[in-house]
Amino acid sequence: MTHFLDINTTSPADLRGIIDNAATMKAARAGQPKGTPDADLPLANHMVALIFEKPSTRTRISFDVGVRQMGGETMVLSGKDMQLGHGETIADTARVLSRYVDLIMIRTFEEQTLLEMAEYASVPVINGLTDRTHPCQIMADILTFEEHNGPIKGKKVVWSGDGNNVFASFAHAAKQFDFDLVFTGPETLQPEAALDGLYTTVRDPNEAVQGADLVVTDTWVSMHDPQSARERRHNQLRGYQVNADLMSKAKDDALFMHCLPAHRDDEATSEVMDGPNSVIWDEAENRLHAQKAVMRFCLDK
Ligand code: CP
Ligand code: NVA
Repeated sequence: MTHFLDINTTSPADLRGIIDNAATMKAARAGQPKGTPDADLPLANHMVALIFEKPSTRTRISFDVGVRQMGGETMVLSGKDMQLGHGETIADTARVLSRYVDLIMIRTFEEQTLLEMAEYASVPVINGLTDRTHPCQIMADILTFEEHNGPIKGKKVVWSGDGNNVFASFAHAAKQFDFDLVFTGPETLQPEAALDGLYTTVRDPNEAVQGADLVVTDTWVSMHDPQSARERRHNQLRGYQVNADLMSKAKDDALFMHCLPAHRDDEATSEVMDGPNSVIWDEAENRLHAQKAVMRFCLDK
């Protein structure tokens, strides 16, 4: 069984294969209407369940469109409408779903839910975001970086802001794809200790971004963070906003990324988001191409 649970549990060779495949598949359908089926229909006759316990725009639509382009069928399910949200165990849900569908993508809260789904499912399971990680996002980000600025190996990536789930997948990727990752953010929002050794910390954002090939940020309040923490987080993170002044200290051709959804003029200014270094729309599009390659990898198609 080939699950896609995290960047650090997938080998560098497999990750590289997925990125290269995504680029090839993207090129093969360039310029075609979004509903045009791919020539080879690798997911023909396949059913895919997309389960969401949290909101989503990009993950939901890119997976749905991607499966259809590859000739498969999708069911987009809300966790709270399933018995899963009313006491049926994850293990039992996994066993039952495996009798109906060929692949499961789940966006959930606790990582344990994802791991249990994978343990008891007899079909591949893909991580569509947990409180701890967001590996599909980072596959799209690597694809996007390499399209614009070539191989990411040896490059300097600076994360400015909250040491959250998206950062964690970047940290895993830094090791697997061999790039340098710098975290700049308040000590109170430092990434979890399990990621120690995968990145370096530079507390001053102006110092951190010097020589950066890529500057990345994300929302200051994630879906799993209590709304009561909003003001405190904003106060702690304000100094880490990605604005034109900060970007001017990175390399001239440094890219700017944000997984979206963004809170404009909080974590990043509109000037940067809509500016010449920003690749956020390519990043969003590449969710589609990267995830199609992830699904083919899981199903060995
Ligand atoms: N970046 C991302 O995963 O977006 P959604 O929450 O809209 O899926
Ligand atoms: N860190 C954000 C990412 C959203 C795609 C969250 O978990 O809400």
